[in-house]
This record gives sequence, structure tokens and C-alpha cells, in this order.
Amino acid sequence: MPVLRILGIETSCDETAAALVEGTPGGKGRTLSNIVLSQLKEHAPYGGVVPEIAARAHVEALDRIIDEAMRKADITWNAIDAIAATAGPGLVGGVMVGLMTAKGLCVATGKPLIAVNHLEGHALSPRLVLDCPFPYLLLLVSGGHTQLLAVEGLGRYRLMGTTIDDAVGEAFDKTAKLLGLGFPGGPAVERAARNGDASRFRLPRPLIDREGFDFSFSGLKTAVRNHVGEDEAWPREARADMAASFQQAVIDVLSARAGKAMDDFARRKGAAAGLRFVIAGGVAANAGIRASLEKAAGERGFTLLAPPPALCTDNGAMIAWAGLERFAMHGADDLIVAARARWPLAS
Ligand code: KG4
Ligand code: ZN
Repeated sequence: MPVLRILGIETSCDETAAALVEGTPGGKGRTLSNIVLSQLKEHAPYGGVVPEIAARAHVEALDRIIDEAMRKADITWNAIDAIAATAGPGLVGGVMVGLMTAKGLCVATGKPLIAVNHLEGHALSPRLVLDCPFPYLLLLVSGGHTQLLAVEGLGRYRLMGTTIDDAVGEAFDKTAKLLGLGFPGGPAVERAARNGDASRFRLPRPLIDREGFDFSFSGLKTAVRNHVGEDEAWPREARADMAASFQQAVIDVLSARAGKAMDDFARRKGAAAGLRFVIAGGVAANAGIRASLEKAAGERGFTLLAPPPALCTDNGAMIAWAGLERFAMHGADDLIVAARARWPLAS
């Protein structure tokens, strides 16, 4: 199998990202460059991502970010095999910026296009850096998604559970906003929680004992709001205690639901091929969540595989890698492929 070199472009949310990855499908890859420009400053005043602002910021930055990725990798257009871009799901204005830019580059260079599902980028990201053969159980936890997926093979994903309301990252962001901790909320809540007492506030653990593998986080956010109310003068240590109590509730729910999914996965697959549990997405950068999932995995004979934090949050390398694996198996996509706001990976 020849070595492939792929440019990956990611613009589906609030990161403008481009990366060059080389490798052979199935084996690990080498990241030649991975440039991520976060739009934190643009969205911070609003306490969340504003789609129109995101799309405009992508337009303004993307050419420069791609240029930087090419220079850092020290590579010419000739040496690239294909150009991969996120084609959805996500904020469609931003997705269009990345996909149209990729199409333009394909026309100009004669290189093939690969339209990548952003969720597949997260789902395959561990395979770029870790020894992670199929099948594996994946917990994808990000600002837009909370899903448990059985990853059976390339393009073969079985959805086991998903959130019925808010994504877990969204709950972190909204809680941070309620506590006045800033944006993005995940890292801010994690920081505040370090000095907090997780047992001070009694918060719900939605769906924790329920049948199936679905999640729900909006009730948790509402419970935080009911405690905090409109009180802007909430003392600092109360905020830390609430951050810790909230994070502990999330940890308890994720560990219980993922643990149950691991039991089901192990029953179906048997232990012979090795039991692997992968966590990906921005929330997987949380150390407390990682530690508790590692424990849940260990107790069930699963190996926890977690890409490094820089590959967990949105980036171009995971799009390049998913593009590389897809390109090797299915070839290129048609240039008429459209940007999609919704694009389920599995149903
Ligand atoms: O995967 P990602 O970069 O973008 C999406 O595809 O959504 O995930 C971003 C989400 C945000 O909600 C952010 O608050 C959350 O991941 N996040 C964290 C942490 N770092 C990022 N949540 C909890 N703890 C963290 N350390
Ligand atoms: Zn993402």
C-alpha cells in the first residue's frame, strides 16, 4: 500500500484548522503539520459560538491557515494525493467555507476531493496516533455531540446511544456561563472545580439508571440555574463548589452509561479480539472524566484509548486522517458534493 499524503481542512464550528498527514490506512499516520486557529476572542462576548461570526472568521483566516500548514509540513501541492474537508455536520456557513475552499484548491491543483463527516474524523482520530484496530466502542463527547458508537470498521458505525437534549460540552459551556466563568466553558469549569467541594450541591444524574444508552443533560443545566438564580454576587467558593458538583454529576453519568455500553459491547464481541474503549471529542480533554472512564474500562477488562487533547478538540489532522482512510477504500468524492448541517454517522 503506497504512502498517502492528505491535506485536511476543518471549519465546522469555531476552529479554523488545516493539517497535513501522511501514512497508509490501517497503520498509524504521521502528522506533518496541524494548525488550529481558535475563534475564542470573537465569540467570548456572547458566551457561545455565533454562527455568522464563525463563518466570517473562517473566510478571513482559512487561506493563511492552509498556507501555514503547507509551509510547516514543507510540502508542495504536487506531493499531495488528495484534499479532505469537513462536509458536515456543523454550522453550515462555516462548513461551506472549508468545503468550497477545498473544491477551489482541487480544481486549481487537479487533486481529488474527499468530503469527510466531522464525526467520522473524531471516530477515527485514535487510529492516527494509537494502535487501535477495529472494532472498538467509542464515546464521542463534544460541544455538539454525545454519542456511544460501536465502530465495527471503516464506514460501519452502530449508534448505541445519544443525547436526547443537550450535548455534554454544551452543558459545560452553559454552566460556565451561569457561573460567570467565561468561554469556552469546559476548561473553565474544570479549572474552577479543582478547588471545589463536589458534595456541596445535590444535582440530578439524568437517565443514570434508565434502560438503554441515551444521555440527557438539560435537566442538569436547569438544576445549576435554579441554584445560582440571578445572583451575580455568588461567592467565589460557591462557584468552585458548584463547578465541582456539576462536573461530578457529569462524571457519574458518563461512567455509568459508558460502563453499561461496555458490558453490552463485550457480550456481543467477546474478549478474544481485545476490548477497546475510545474517548474522543473536546470534553475528552477533561482529566477527571478521563480518570473515571479509565477506571470503568479497567474494571471491565477494556483498554482505554484516548487521543492526546490536541487531537480531541476540533483539528485538521483528524479530518486528513479520516480522509486518508476513506480515500484508500472508496476513492474520491464528486466535486458537486454539498455542505450539510446534519449528517448522522449511523442510525
Ligand atoms: O470537539 P470540540 O472541540 O468541538 C465540537 O465538535 O463541538 O468540543 C468542544 C467542546 C466545548 O463544549 C468545550 O467546552 C468542551 O468541548 N471542552 C471541555 C474541556 N475542553 C473542551 N469540556 C470539559 N472539560 C474540558 N477540559
Ligand atoms: Zn468536533
